[in-house]
Amino acid sequence: MCSYSAALELRLGSTETQLETHSAGNIDSPVLIVLIKSFIVFFFIVGSALRLRLDVTEKHLEGLRAEIAELEKQLEHLKKGNTDELKVAFSVGLTDSGPVGPFDEERTLIFSKTLTDVGHAYDRAAGVFTAPVRGVYFFSFTAADYLKGYMGLYLYRNNQPIIFNLDLNDHGGYASMSNGVALKLEEGDRVRLSLPASYRLYDDSRNFSVFSGFLLFAL
Ligand SMILES: *[C@@H]1O[C@H](CO)[C@@H](O)[C@H](O)[C@H]1NC(C)=O
Repeated sequence: MCSYSAALELRLGSTETQLETHSAGNIDSPVLIVLIKSFIVFFFIVGSALRLRLDVTEKHLEGLRAEIAELEKQLEHLKKGNTDELKVAFSVGLTDSGPVGPFDEERTLIFSKTLTDVGHAYDRAAGVFTAPVRGVYFFSFTAADYLKGYMGLYLYRNNQPIIFNLDLNDHGGYASMSNGVALKLEEGDRVRLSLPASYRLYDDSRNFSVFSGFLLFAL
């Protein structure tokens, strides 16, 4: 802007000098010079105004460019999220060999039969599900027994019991119970089912007792 006005002033000065030289002796020349000066000042003002508008427009464009870059970033993130979507789901059966328990102490139930395993988050040797990402997961189970007595189990998140399910099987036939829960887990949180001391469950090749879980959505 400064150099622009300096250039105009320079041109104004040289035009004046030229006019004075060429029109020496002409009566109308001072009027002409004032007229030309006015024109130059007028164009200078118009030019400055245009320059100002151009600056504003350029700033606006810069803002738009930044917005587009931000949107492109978000789009890229969404695309990536879709293709990298984590899939985690499992269903496991307890055992083929009949009764489990009763034991003197509470014990983690080791569901050893794989019905479904996507994502390998359930450890069949330890009986423990480990959350691969922070998110909301859903777990459910069905547990059965066939003799008189207490049947039941705990569902744990890490070392904290979340659900206790219990039934007194007093008729002594096949009985089963089911439950489910949605849990918000941090990455690495562990979920397992546990058999309380002196309780019993039952399973055979018909899959009476099943533990299932899946990732609803990551957080
Ligand atoms: C029990 O689960 C196994 C898979 O582990 C399956 O092949 C079998 O058909 C199931 N049995 C019954 C009776 O549902």
